[in-house]
Amino acid sequence: MKDIPIIDTSKFLAQGGDDEQCVALKDAVSHYGLAIILDERVEPGLPVKYREVAQEVFKLPPDVKAKYIQPPLEDGRQLYENGWRPPFTERPRRRDEVLHLIPDQAKPKDPPSEDPKERLMYPFGKPRQGSQFPTIDLAEPIIVNEVEGYRETSEAWGRTMYMVLMTVAQMLAIGFGEPRDLFWSLLEHGPHRLAPTGLDLSKWGPGTVAAGFHNDMSAFTLHGMSNWPGLWAWTRFWEKFAVRLPDERHLLLQVGRALEHLTAGAVMRGYHEVVIGEERQDILRALLLAGQKPWRVTTTSFCHIATDSWLEPIGGFVNLPLAEKYIVQRILSGARQEESIFRKARRA
Ligand SMILES: [Fe+2]
Repeated sequence: MKDIPIIDTSKFLAQGGDDEQCVALKDAVSHYGLAIILDERVEPGLPVKYREVAQEVFKLPPDVKAKYIQPPLEDGRQLYENGWRPPFTERPRRRDEVLHLIPDQAKPKDPPSEDPKERLMYPFGKPRQGSQFPTIDLAEPIIVNEVEGYRETSEAWGRTMYMVLMTVAQMLAIGFGEPRDLFWSLLEHGPHRLAPTGLDLSKWGPGTVAAGFHNDMSAFTLHGMSNWPGLWAWTRFWEKFAVRLPDERHLLLQVGRALEHLTAGAVMRGYHEVVIGEERQDILRALLLAGQKPWRVTTTSFCHIATDSWLEPIGGFVNLPLAEKYIVQRILSGARQEESIFRKARRA
């Protein structure tokens, strides 16, 4: 098990700066593609409460959850960017182009053509008004009525994610010796989404690939602790490691493709997969024998830069050797997000 660095935000928050932890954050995400965050503002009990609320939704019958699928677009295409995303609707883009770089002992599992996990999507943050990308920016959260406290708890978790995101974005910029608002200003009005996942463990046992090998397209992905283990990730140098948080107080920060673009590869997108292993299966079997129906639930949130911001190297990253490669791929963040969303769209 790798010792993933833990970044404590408390001194930064109290004193307005903490160069040591800012550099440690920069080093962690540059090497591991992720870091563990300890932030005292996360209300004790909230991560568990939010996860339990999400689990209650996942445990609803499929015909009830189906009421909360995003309505189809006028042209008939079906998106799942708000409300319930059913199982087998996520198809991780195969990343065959990097597989040859990974040593045999660290290769990912063969990804399923479609992931068996399902998801809840819930917009949070400060929406961008007057957007060129209204389907992304102006989504009102779809509220699941059958679960008491769904809106309130999701809102509380969203506020927490936003607050921590804004802090780590500043710390990372400072760690790189850049102005503190370099990433923060792009993220302030980003179309962020709470996106917890659920997997029915009474159906899916050891060996299940809940999420095939992939990277996130977000700038950052922030999670609380999941209730069952399963996440594996790769370092920049293709060492595979298990991602486990020490306890419920800690958060996991992963970096996605957008941050790689902004930093011209100084931070590479973090590749990962979710595989149900033998870990804690004895406890699981006991629960199943007792007639319970446990789900694996994550408290994922995807944090994006604003749709009208350009995905391109920024700040001092424009001077890096790889910058040209990213400059020629320059695209509006909203256009990139649409590409990804519509690639996954289905005909209703
Ligand atoms: Fe992911």
